[in-house]
Amino acid sequence: MNMTFLDLPQMISASGAVRLPGSKSISNRALLLAALADGITEIENLLESDDTARMREALRRLGVKIDETDMGAWRVHGVSGRFPVRRAELFLGNAGTAFRSLTAALALSGGDYTLTGVPRMHERPIGDLVDALRQLGAKIDYLGKTGYPPLRLRGREKREKTHAAARVRGDVSSQFLTGLLLALPLIGGKTRVEVTGALISRPYVELTLKLMARFGVPIERHGDQSFSLPGASLPGASLPGDTARYVSPGVFHVEGDASSASYFLALGAIGATGNDAVRVEGVGCQSIQGDLRFAEALSQMGAVIEMDEHGISARAPSGGQGLRGITLDCNAIPDAAMTLAIVALFATGETRLLNIASWRVKETDRIAAMDKELGKLGARVEAGADYLRVTPPDENHPLRAAIIDTYDDHRMAMCFSLASFAVPLRINAPGCVAKTFPGYFRDFAVLARPAPVIAIDGPTASGKGAVCARVAAALGFHYLDSGALYRLTALAAREAGVDGEDEAALAALAAALDVVFQDGRVSLNGKDVSEVLRGEAISSAASRVAAFPAVRAALLFRQRAFHRAPGLVGDGRDMASVVFPSAALKIFLTASAEVRAERRWRQLREKGQDPDRAAILSDLKARDARDRNRPAAPLRQEPAARLLDTGALDIDAAVAQVLAWWAENGAGHRAIP
Ligand code: DC
Repeated sequence: MNMTFLDLPQMISASGAVRLPGSKSISNRALLLAALADGITEIENLLESDDTARMREALRRLGVKIDETDMGAWRVHGVSGRFPVRRAELFLGNAGTAFRSLTAALALSGGDYTLTGVPRMHERPIGDLVDALRQLGAKIDYLGKTGYPPLRLRGREKREKTHAAARVRGDVSSQFLTGLLLALPLIGGKTRVEVTGALISRPYVELTLKLMARFGVPIERHGDQSFSLPGASLPGASLPGDTARYVSPGVFHVEGDASSASYFLALGAIGATGNDAVRVEGVGCQSIQGDLRFAEALSQMGAVIEMDEHGISARAPSGGQGLRGITLDCNAIPDAAMTLAIVALFATGETRLLNIASWRVKETDRIAAMDKELGKLGARVEAGADYLRVTPPDENHPLRAAIIDTYDDHRMAMCFSLASFAVPLRINAPGCVAKTFPGYFRDFAVLARPAPVIAIDGPTASGKGAVCARVAAALGFHYLDSGALYRLTALAAREAGVDGEDEAALAALAAALDVVFQDGRVSLNGKDVSEVLRGEAISSAASRVAAFPAVRAALLFRQRAFHRAPGLVGDGRDMASVVFPSAALKIFLTASAEVRAERRWRQLREKGQDPDRAAILSDLKARDARDRNRPAAPLRQEPAARLLDTGALDIDAAVAQVLAWWAENGAGHRAIP
């Protein structure tokens, strides 16, 4: 998905089931373990995403044979602890799990390797891991800034020691310890790692230990502070004095990703009411992933969680009680905790997420990013060095539609999608989800149900405006008069003296319009412009500015921001084709040019003017022609749109027809956003 943005309308409910992609943390560990092991490992349900692709590519460049089976599993031919390629340059993108674990494994395995990543990877600290590896004799150079990637690894000094030991900090990233542990069997002999400082994200270390055991290397552990590989006498050790070595378990199944599950469980907690629930398949009560505990946090917030061996389901609190804010030490679930920051918007009372300093060295500074983007929604947030406090909206502090930046951070894109239950959103660069979950937005669309839209397009003076406003009132829906936005742009251009042919300047004006629609009136820059907006001069100018693609693009999200619960009636020229292509009901409302000119003539007469009939008809035809013939979003009847000719109908009859169509098939329609 290489989109520049994805617009999400306000969602009104969620239900259904999804199968989760494989766990990233398990996939990348399993790939490395299988590569280092004796024998061939067949890995089932391996996550296929950017981060695991980086690991697979790197292992292949190191001479590890990896192929895909007919059943979609990956077969890794283990190299028994020695990579065949002794000199290589590896690019690891922004895959922290690949970078840290390969740094350790390659630094301790001899050979000459260069490890690089994307610019953000070069800002993520690795000095503590390098220091620990140097204690074990590894020769490592920083190729850029000291303490950060890129790195050059130049093998290991031969030491005649059978008792190697290293100290590593545990309070910056648990991946340093994970990397060291995974690489320990490469040293030979007895080895020990001691952790200084409190160990953060402990469940990830436990995951590492469990997977090492699956590949035949159990580690002796003394609390969080000391981890040792005792050398001989282990089941995997083949020679006396030899160290344990990894042995393929044959087939290895990767469970579904518990961090990815967090978004869908939150979706259920926010949007699945009554008998509905959202269920994730592929991770269950036997899971070895720490982020499983996210479900407990949701349940503390009042969500109803059910878990079995194969899956987990979540639904909103029962009995009409809402979610409640919580205070939580998030050290054990740093990734899934981001999702809680968004769930907090739907709770009563504030939510405090504590002990999250590690967020600052992830794909982006996640505390700063959360603070900034939640702020765009109008949420009240307090960000500290290692905590985030979110106060939910209330009448005096409502949320507003916003354009969310994602900082090339998959979790920013995924967790913010949930905010669409409060307001419409634009998510910039949504393709970043490919880091761990390429199909995320497809699955989201399967589960989340948007507020419905009735899209009504048609030419000028067809009676659309009156019909749309009345239909919206009858259904209690919002009403978007999209033509007004083009008129406002034309008016703003006139007032600012902007040249009507200067597309870029017009688009900039359209993007920055300070406009309020309230009680059927429109104001621009604080001034009521309802009357002047409908004048003939502005009508004509509007149809000219509307032909510029840049102006249309600048007004797109402004229009989609009207797509709110409980529903919307959109009135315009391209409602069904461009702005709301998945509208539940599409109508093309029209009448002959003569009928429409006659109506306009009568309207103007009623206002006390003395208009020229022929001039009205020719002006109307000219505008029709411009709207129909422009290359950008021309006026036309969409194939799925029903034709409503109002030539012989009064407004009451036209409204009744739209409502009848809505009752017939629109109301039950399940649109994909
Ligand atoms: O519906 P209206 O007459 O207020 O629209 C004013 C102009 O704006 C019209 O000439 C065409 C243009 N327009 C458009 O291009 N796309 C829309 N969705 C709505 C209006």
